[in-house]
Amino acid sequence: MGLLGKLLLVSVTLAAVGIGYISYTLNQVPQLPELKSTWWGAGQRRKLDESIRSFKVNISDDILHDLQIRLDLPSHLTSPLENVNFEYGFNTNYLKKVVEFWKTKYNWREREVFLNSFPHFKTYVDGLDLHFIHVKPQNVDKDIDVLPLLLLHGWPGSVREFYDLIPLLTTPRKDVNFVFEVIAPSLPGYGFSEGASKPGLGAAQVAVVMKNLMERIGFKKFYAHGGDWGAVIVSHMGVLFPKSVLGVHSNMCFVNSLSSNLKRVIGSLWPTLFVEEAHVDKVYPLGKHFAFVLEEMGYMHLQATKPDTAGVALRDSPVGLAAYILEKFSTWTDSNWRSLPDGGLTRKYRLTDLLDNVMIYWVTGSITTSMRLYSESFNKAQFALKLDSIPSLTPTGCAMFPNELAYQPKSFVQEKYHKLVRFTDMPRGGHFAAFEEPELLSDDVWETVKIIRSNRDA
Ligand SMILES: *[C@@H]1O[C@H](CO)[C@@H](O)[C@H](O)[C@H]1NC(C)=O
Repeated sequence: MGLLGKLLLVSVTLAAVGIGYISYTLNQVPQLPELKSTWWGAGQRRKLDESIRSFKVNISDDILHDLQIRLDLPSHLTSPLENVNFEYGFNTNYLKKVVEFWKTKYNWREREVFLNSFPHFKTYVDGLDLHFIHVKPQNVDKDIDVLPLLLLHGWPGSVREFYDLIPLLTTPRKDVNFVFEVIAPSLPGYGFSEGASKPGLGAAQVAVVMKNLMERIGFKKFYAHGGDWGAVIVSHMGVLFPKSVLGVHSNMCFVNSLSSNLKRVIGSLWPTLFVEEAHVDKVYPLGKHFAFVLEEMGYMHLQATKPDTAGVALRDSPVGLAAYILEKFSTWTDSNWRSLPDGGLTRKYRLTDLLDNVMIYWVTGSITTSMRLYSESFNKAQFALKLDSIPSLTPTGCAMFPNELAYQPKSFVQEKYHKLVRFTDMPRGGHFAAFEEPELLSDDVWETVKIIRSNRDA
């Protein structure tokens, strides 16, 4: 063998070892971490009332009066640049209209009646006073199974996102032998649920708290659906508690393993390596994926590092809070809406409904504690659990909405969800699927659970 031949042989061997090593590393499945119930409340662990208490949304006159005073203060809004809409953030010309509506047309006491149209409850779990909506189906025939379904919202959302969805899940359907009983909690630190007093309550730990909550209510086995953080948490629940979680449905199936991220980076240069031609534009939108991430993910870095600093301003100013939250309802519903004078906000939503969600943050003073979920989920301790790299063996359905922030094709999603029973490319809709497209979403939940149940019977 000549020198060239030997060199070739050595290179081929080295390359083979290298590729073998990389694929071994990429395919290694970390051990499932054992997460124990933790006391997240203030002070030392102590015995708390474990009953389930009925709860009504009923905010004190003092809080509402304080809000009115703040909204009545002379505004100090900086005018937007000429010919700019939402490209630099929430347009203050439009913000003035939102505030005017809030002050003169929006009636919180009426909204409380609406919010209380579902039964609300509270109970102490792991030291935290947690809030949840619990809706049982009415007039169900004996031969219909009633299935508990946990619904989890995300940031900057709330249980308000589920108001149109819930009846679509709790009303029996023709020729379907099951119906849902819905449990929709406010995440810890969100809205009417108490936030942690101690560091460390990240998405993985919230998964434990939510399982404990379901057990408290009386459900050892249940289905779970989520979007945004809710999607991350129900996915973790599927990984951590496959015996409790009968099935997961998500409108933000997102695979965040090393190999999927490599695919995203390499694929942004050479898309057809990983994605069929037809999906290239959605997965790597015009090759602009990373530019989009940089433009739109600043909030995430901020909240993952200094939530308490940003929280001071947002907790102090209802106008600032509305701008911060509603900007997301514009851009995340449709990023093209950044070029509209009103951010497209009333194309799909009513201002009243959007303000309900802002009010849930304002009257509970929960914006800072809500943003801490980012800091607690993006840190070394959480990454060390390696939950993103552990496949889920729980049957899962994914509804992929076209305007979702990071569209992932079925081939990526399957890497994480080994029992992916359904993957739906939705015809329209964005990040706030439950709020935007309750019918499309509920149909997908029903179909997913139908498949899971028939697979089990088979
Ligand atoms: C709200 O609370 C106030 C003061 O405690 C009480 O007078 C009022 O009846 C409550 N309203 C509702 C709808 O429960």
